[in-house]
Amino acid sequence: MSASAGILFLYLYPMKNKKRLTWWDLIKWGISDQLGRSYSSEEKSRFYDRLAQDFFHRDRLAAFITKIISDLHTNTTPYICERAAGSGIITEHLYQQGFTKIRTSDLNATQLLVLQEKMPEIKTVVEDFNFPLKDIHAKTFDVILQVGATRFMTKKGQIIYIEEAFRTLHNGGYILWPVIWAEMPMAWLSKGWNPPKTTPWGIKLLLEKNGFEIIENPFLIHGKIGLLTTTFLVAQKNENPKPKNIFTSFLDLSKKIKIRFLKK
Ligand SMILES: C[S@@+](CC[C@H](N)C(=O)[O-])C[C@H]1O[C@@H](n2cnc3c(N)ncnc32)[C@H](O)[C@@H]1O
Repeated sequence: MSASAGILFLYLYPMKNKKRLTWWDLIKWGISDQLGRSYSSEEKSRFYDRLAQDFFHRDRLAAFITKIISDLHTNTTPYICERAAGSGIITEHLYQQGFTKIRTSDLNATQLLVLQEKMPEIKTVVEDFNFPLKDIHAKTFDVILQVGATRFMTKKGQIIYIEEAFRTLHNGGYILWPVIWAEMPMAWLSKGWNPPKTTPWGIKLLLEKNGFEIIENPFLIHGKIGLLTTTFLVAQKNENPKPKNIFTSFLDLSKKIKIRFLKK
């Protein structure tokens, strides 16, 4: 009886109070994300933008990323390539903090429309990150990142993403990879038996095999009531990487762990 009352409440509450997003909205978004329908219209993209701020506290992750980039590059304005940039929550924060050299891209034009409304001066490109970067010369960027989109990579596309990062980054450039743990089951559900690597140690190993060295891997707790946990991999392009195996990769990440709660 109490369970059905709870479900009824979750269902009716958003109807009564259209303005505030509820946990039921989050569940509905999760289902539509799995069905590949979350970003198919402008209205859905605007809804994602609100949900990401309210539930995932993306602005706090954006502040954390901005701080990481500031600490990496102290003297110059780095050229940042943000892939799967979505509605631009991370982009906007970077831009406001003076990181104005940014190239953003996403598969869905509706997401980029929301981004452009906020920042008309930012260059946006519609592209699939599972394929090579068109028209970008080698050694162009200082930083490459994506947030919350690992689950949309194909197994092969994930390798292409890393190889392209290696090619287009300057020597010593950085790839930032927040490995959001909630993406693991989402990738397994949507990609079946052939998912991309979604664990921090699996992604760390892939990066190491393709010319990157992990220099930091803080563990973040963020989102409403600590909804999300993330192993944040900061990897530097390194022409002479030391090859590892999955066991040492796992041990490395466990040894150097630093836990951070992302607050306002
Ligand atoms: C959860 S959202 C994250 C958006 C943004 N990075 C953020 O943190 O708010 C995932 C994004 O990945 C994009 N995406 C999905 N598949 C993609 C692909 N194959 N190539 C590039 N972007 C993709 C979606 O359009 C969406 O904007």
